[in-house]
Amino acid sequence: MPKTFIAGIGHYVPENIVTNKDLMKYMDTSDDWIQERTGIKERRYAHRTGESTATMGIEAAKKALANAGIAATDVDFIIFATLSPDYYFPGCGVLVQRALKMKEIGALDIRNQCSGFVYALSVADQFIKSGMYKNILLVCSEKHSFGLDFSTRGRNVSVIFGDGAAAVVLQPTEDKERGILSTHLHSDGESAEILAMYNPGTHANYWMEQEFAHFDDAEIGQMFMSHAMIENAQNFPNMDGPAVFKKAVVKFPEVIMEALNYNGYKPSDIDLLIPHQANLRIAQFVQQKLGLSNDKVFNNIEKYGNTTAASIPLALSEAVEQGRVKKDDLLCMAAFGSGFTWASALVKW
Ligand code: UT7
Repeated sequence: MPKTFIAGIGHYVPENIVTNKDLMKYMDTSDDWIQERTGIKERRYAHRTGESTATMGIEAAKKALANAGIAATDVDFIIFATLSPDYYFPGCGVLVQRALKMKEIGALDIRNQCSGFVYALSVADQFIKSGMYKNILLVCSEKHSFGLDFSTRGRNVSVIFGDGAAAVVLQPTEDKERGILSTHLHSDGESAEILAMYNPGTHANYWMEQEFAHFDDAEIGQMFMSHAMIENAQNFPNMDGPAVFKKAVVKFPEVIMEALNYNGYKPSDIDLLIPHQANLRIAQFVQQKLGLSNDKVFNNIEKYGNTTAASIPLALSEAVEQGRVKKDDLLCMAAFGSGFTWASALVKW
């Protein structure tokens, strides 16, 4: 059976840099608070109308294709991971297929939020190992800035997130010493609502009950989004930050150790750990727990904030660009987020 390797990688971030001081114009926050609690100094925001999750993903995809030395028409499957799609439906995968004038290949959208890249990598790995596809384009992109509450009410969430995209091209290799060694995927839906965007959605909720109590069956189609939902911030991401933090610092080391144990490695064998960029404090806790030195962990959250599905490939792409990843290096990627879902991948570069 062939193994899967990352044949090309690229990223795209919007030009517009938004500092912590910039956010102070809209909400009661401070540069000190944001830096102390999260490590974030600035993030990028996409052009309000000129850029979307798909357009940023497409820019990253073009770079990944060029880096792999293949044409868009060589791609035989697209995977797109995001929580901020251009449309409620269809997914962004088909928008990539259209923009890059690809063949009528399959396009799959993945909704696993912060774990989106590792989940998508795992799916791609199965398709390549089985021999079904030879060139998979995996795109991760987020335009968070279009759906955040910039009032003080939403400050615990809004200061964290930023926009950006990254993409990889995955191909088979017969080299047994190279490529994706294993992926490990997990979920626990018990706390699904503590990091979630509730509306628009089809679940029955308090705001619906209040506003639509008098509706008859013929009017039910209007219940998807209401003024009350908007007034009560139901259309913004909601997060119990401390609860997520507490779980993340347990699950990150656990899923990293699972990947290492599965392959007979120990933490000291890791050449570079690329954790999902949720909070620098979480990454530092994980680093300490595993006993890794600073040069063994790659973080870029200070520049981009949390770009959810894009965060790991964006960090990997920058690490490659900066020469931090060399042939035969053992890379570990790990994520934890909404769902909860968490995941890890071990890759021999
Ligand atoms: O990638 C998805 C997964 N997400 C995560 O992994 C996020 C995990 N959680 C976190 O990173 C942290 O919990 C946060 C960065 C979100 C928050 O940091 P915290 O140290 O847990 O703060 P907190 O939520 O406990 O809030 C402490 C105080 C509160 O004020 P009081 O009640 O002590 O007066 C908040 O209202 O900080 C206040 N606060 C802020 N103050 C200034 C919350 N957000 C802000 C803000 N600026 N942006």
